[in-house]
Amino acid sequence: MATSLTNAQLAAIQKNPYKQDFPLLANNPQLTFLDSAATAQRPAAVLDAQRSFYETMNANPLRGLYKLSVAATQAIDDARSHIARFIGATDETGTPQANAIVFTRNASEALNLLAHTLPQVVSLGPGDEVVISIMEHHSNLIPWQQVCAATGANLVYLRLDEGHCITPAEIENKISPATKIVSVTHVSNVLGIQNDIAAIAARAHEVGALCIADGAQSVPHVQVDVRALGCDFLAFSAHKLGGPLGIGVLWGKPELLDAMPPFLTGGEMIDSVSETGAVWSPVPQKFEAGTQDAAGAFATNACLDYLESLGMDKVEERERLLARYLCERLQERKYITIVGSDDPALHIGAVSFDVSGIHPHDVASILDMSNVCIRAGHHCAQPLLTYLGWRSTCRASVAFYNDKNDIDRLVDGLDQVWGIFNGSR
Ligand code: ALA
Repeated sequence: MATSLTNAQLAAIQKNPYKQDFPLLANNPQLTFLDSAATAQRPAAVLDAQRSFYETMNANPLRGLYKLSVAATQAIDDARSHIARFIGATDETGTPQANAIVFTRNASEALNLLAHTLPQVVSLGPGDEVVISIMEHHSNLIPWQQVCAATGANLVYLRLDEGHCITPAEIENKISPATKIVSVTHVSNVLGIQNDIAAIAARAHEVGALCIADGAQSVPHVQVDVRALGCDFLAFSAHKLGGPLGIGVLWGKPELLDAMPPFLTGGEMIDSVSETGAVWSPVPQKFEAGTQDAAGAFATNACLDYLESLGMDKVEERERLLARYLCERLQERKYITIVGSDDPALHIGAVSFDVSGIHPHDVASILDMSNVCIRAGHHCAQPLLTYLGWRSTCRASVAFYNDKNDIDRLVDGLDQVWGIFNGSR
């Protein structure tokens, strides 16, 4: 078995003190879950928090003047502060920018919020440009296609070099004085590659454009610090971190959030309403129409506590080893082609691959018979797959609660798939 991992590194990923924290994994030892880029498993701490909210503080947040409702409101406020701290959104004094955290249903909704509100702020019109990359998830692509169709602006794509990277020259050339908005994924959900958001944001600001980072695949795996990234907005979903399904986050620079019109309108997002108009609440409530998922916010807060108790640096270190081992084990197999960089160090969480001559749906379905879960398809990134010359791929993605055994089971399963179609290895 060819791997560049040292014996100590192999021993580290063989050991798994984390699975026991995840009831679904602990109760199903036969399961090999390698689809965390789609959604992560939840630790007991998150499940307990969700239940505890409903058992001890369930009331409509923001509306009531009684203790239960105040507790529900506090759950949301505490989560905002914690999330701000977690992503490095602090002011000059180091205070978390809690009011710069807007709750949404997921990263897609956060990105849609931006696509619906920023064109007005930047007066986007014919001749202007919106720059995204060819590796965007549809959530950070279709909204901008729609914006450009509605405003007459042009959609410009950052493309990749042979190593699947966006080069400094590409950033320099494509982000131009015509650019008004740049929106790029921090980590690709297909390639696992991490983009240099700091360089992209610096170039965007140089030409007077705004910069959005889609953090859906980075916040769960690397320490994200929005101040260091220099972007104006960051969007991500709690469920990919191990938090609940159905709650997402938009962080924005406070002065920009202030300048943006609301996205959804209705209850809780107004200061006053008359027969002919309304005055909006300050941020973040301006963007949070209707009853918010206070239980989800409370459980997301618990998820961050859990991750911080492990240390995001340790999470990242382990996941990098797992991704390296995964790439190298796949690279051993002649019948497998990695779709993306050959360099295992460039894969954060996700590794896409093709099994020669076998449709990815067949691969995933046969692996499922051995209880190995991977994703197969276009991964909501059809323009990227088309650009790279694929219709569909297999994708295995790791989280810190995976171990060496999970990856070995995947590779054994792939050998079986290959054997079924080819009669031998
Ligand atoms: N965006 C998720 C994925 O890449 C669903 O699988």
